[in-house]
Amino acid sequence: GLSINRLLKETGHVTLDPGFTNTASTTSAITYIDGEAGILRYRGYPIEELAERSSFLEVAYLLIYGELPTADQLDRFTDRVRRHTLLDEKFRNFFTVFPRQAHPMAVLSSAVSALSTFYQDNLDPFDEEQVDLSSIRLIAKLPTIAAYAYKTSVGQPLLYPDNSLGYVENFLRMTFGLPTEPYEVDPEIVRILDMLFILHADHEQNCSTSTVRLVGSSHANLFSSVSAGVDALFGPLHGGANQAVLEMLERIHAEGGNVEDFVRRVKNKEPGLKLMGFGHRVYRNYDPRAAVVKKATRKVLDILGKSDPLLDLAMRLEEVALNDDYFIERKLYPNVDFYTGVIYKAMGFPTNAFTVLFALGRLPGWIAQWREMINDPATKIGRPRQVYVGPGERHYVDISER
Ligand code: ACO
Repeated sequence: GLSINRLLKETGHVTLDPGFTNTASTTSAITYIDGEAGILRYRGYPIEELAERSSFLEVAYLLIYGELPTADQLDRFTDRVRRHTLLDEKFRNFFTVFPRQAHPMAVLSSAVSALSTFYQDNLDPFDEEQVDLSSIRLIAKLPTIAAYAYKTSVGQPLLYPDNSLGYVENFLRMTFGLPTEPYEVDPEIVRILDMLFILHADHEQNCSTSTVRLVGSSHANLFSSVSAGVDALFGPLHGGANQAVLEMLERIHAEGGNVEDFVRRVKNKEPGLKLMGFGHRVYRNYDPRAAVVKKATRKVLDILGKSDPLLDLAMRLEEVALNDDYFIERKLYPNVDFYTGVIYKAMGFPTNAFTVLFALGRLPGWIAQWREMINDPATKIGRPRQVYVGPGERHYVDISER
């Protein structure tokens, strides 16, 4: 009659699995990945179809509510998001306290955490209406926050959202627009950034999403949980990889563009040297998102009439790596971050803003996963065990005798 949980407790057995390479933390009905075959689906829909035919807000709806919206449902959802794009006027001052060179990911996570202070009466994790309102607020306000973090770093005035614009265009205008002139952007560029957000929108139990779930499992509110997710995404082994890829390409370019030599050094495992944007815990095949991004990269450069030697360098790097035994044996392929940096750079984003774009895309996934976690009767507070390897009992020695 013992529950599995009690039984495990009674036997005192623990499983040691550093990095959780082989331990599922939850069941989930949101995202399916087949890493061997390179397949990714949101709620059953292949990522390629969504990238080509859907829109970011529609995908956000799909992830959070489980089904594609009807036209009416999408209108209502879009309208709700639109109504919440403003930040509390007091919040504008928040951005002035950071140094000019503050990393926008640090600003973003602080701001998301601070959001909870404005909505203290609506933070009950078990009140569905309140959770829904927090979800809408986050989706609506994250682009405003991200744009303000950027504006502050370049010393330009903050622009209010313009709710006659779509989600992504509004974000681009708040980021790159000026109050003194009308803002114009090629609709194809808007569409491609929207598509990149779709590609990033969820990826099951990755480091940041697991963080969001773990923090939420203590019944911390959605804002606090998502703020922790932003911090997890900041690291170069996770979302920070898009910034790290571009810095790597720039370094190789500055040193003469010798791709073969760089790959040789990576293979020799020179300390601190990895082929950034390559490899993935789950994919043992080409990351299906990377394939879509690669196609879009050339298109963006064409639309903007730009050329970038870093794109050619990235393509050469990919070719050398994919034909090299080291990468073949370890099944290391480009991941989603390998080409995105070249696109973001062409669009005018500074390198340190790249991971913020990842966060904007990943947000609906964090929200959907948090909501699944809080509504799952099987959820328990996340509390891993350990295998203790420190000293046995010993006794305190007075400081004068050490
Ligand atoms: N360059 C060179 N070698 C690599 C790379 C790489 N990018 N990735 C893995 N390897 C090697 C490892 O050194 C290891 O070799 P070994 O067997 O000789 O020791 C082997 O491949 C297995 O790698 P692990 O580190 O065990 O793989 P893990 O699943 O723990 O790590 C990770 C996955 C973190 C993504 C890793 O591949 C990496 O650091 N990549 C670069 C950073 C990056 O692009 N991160 C973005 C991930 S995608 C995302 O967040 C959207």
